[in-house]
Amino acid sequence: MIHAAESASLVEQAVAILKANDRGGYTIPTEGLYPFQWNWDSCLTALGLAHVDAARAWTEIETLFAHQWPDGMVPHIVFHVASDGYFPGPEVWSTGRPTPTSGITQPPVAGFAVRRLFERAKDREQAERRARALLPAIDRWHAWFYAHRDPQSEGLVAILHPWESGRDNSVDWDAAFARVPTEGVTPYVRRDTQHADPAHRPTKAQYDRYLWLVEHFRRLGWDNTRLHEASPFRVVDPGFNAILIRSAADLAELAERLGEPQIAAANRGRAAAGLAALEGLWSASHGQYLCRDRVTGELIDSASIGGLLPAFAAIPRPRAAALARRIERQALTLPFGVASHDPDDPRFEAKRYWRGPSWLITNYMLAEGFVAAGEAALAAKLVAASLALIRQSGFAEYYDPLTGEPCGGGRFSWTAAMVLEFLADTKSQNGRRT
Ligand code: GLC
Repeated sequence: MIHAAESASLVEQAVAILKANDRGGYTIPTEGLYPFQWNWDSCLTALGLAHVDAARAWTEIETLFAHQWPDGMVPHIVFHVASDGYFPGPEVWSTGRPTPTSGITQPPVAGFAVRRLFERAKDREQAERRARALLPAIDRWHAWFYAHRDPQSEGLVAILHPWESGRDNSVDWDAAFARVPTEGVTPYVRRDTQHADPAHRPTKAQYDRYLWLVEHFRRLGWDNTRLHEASPFRVVDPGFNAILIRSAADLAELAERLGEPQIAAANRGRAAAGLAALEGLWSASHGQYLCRDRVTGELIDSASIGGLLPAFAAIPRPRAAALARRIERQALTLPFGVASHDPDDPRFEAKRYWRGPSWLITNYMLAEGFVAAGEAALAAKLVAASLALIRQSGFAEYYDPLTGEPCGGGRFSWTAAMVLEFLADTKSQNGRRT
């Protein structure tokens, strides 16, 4: 249990980080390493902002959606200002948007975030007005996914670039990524390794392929009607799809409440089709979900957190229970929440970004899902482990899951936001108990 004084001090630190990273209408993930607006960072950060300033939380998501593409895509980065500290910048992407953006997307957590903001809101008039305005935009984004990333109507969408997954260098992508050429990439200088330890970041070979894909899509004019078929990298990630399914279900609920039956029906249908199709990614031998390589049609032998994140969606109870047991086994060796890759896999690397480290946002989504799935004890454990991690190591980008050592960037916005969420939950639970 966390003491009131300690909790107040964590809140104070988290709020200070959100304030320091606030750039007006949007929040940067962290100074230096990520100087622009990132898609799912913003949506999750808004949840933290809501504890401080509800109006500002709505603005965070509205700013992101102000840069939605005409075809419905919401880009993964909005380059609001010029900065030469980041690569690849707007000139590499060359998407031709009025305010420069990247040309790919990120995990669609907006539907979940907006429903949560709406439900928490004390100012009901503001919440209704602002949620109502966002509703059709989020619906268009969801429709974009199924139109352009699920052309055979399988019920699940593909990512075309590892950066879309939000889990940039996961082991999940290694085999499919090997098909992406490295020749012909315009020479470049990385900036991430100037802000963070290169041993904790993606490798040079991975970076070449990230850029090859960007240049390939750029040559195709960022035309989303062509990219899916033209990409040598097409992977169906259970975690990404679970987030989309959860957001579709949440958007449906919100639309129902706001008297938008068409949006409600469309999103309910998407969520139902997605949940049914997710079954095809279950691996009995791994005891979790796996990615599917859409080019070969094969499941990918890689037990990552992407295959545990379906707990965030309304998967069948026995599946959620199986994931919970798997995480509990892992917790016997790892005290700091769920590792981004199975520690028993020889490819696990404790400090390399998404190949092992623990992240607060995934602890949060899993805890959220397990509460709904009747696994409250595990959810409470994940929250306690996350807060222990913060007390020991501060508000880092991610953590070594074996030692809790902070890694990557510091003073990280979504880490701060998740702490505010966890503490608010802990407080209301303590309140309920007394
Ligand atoms: C990295 C992470 C991604 C995140 C971004 C900004 O690229 O992998 O998930 O959105 O940093 O924090």
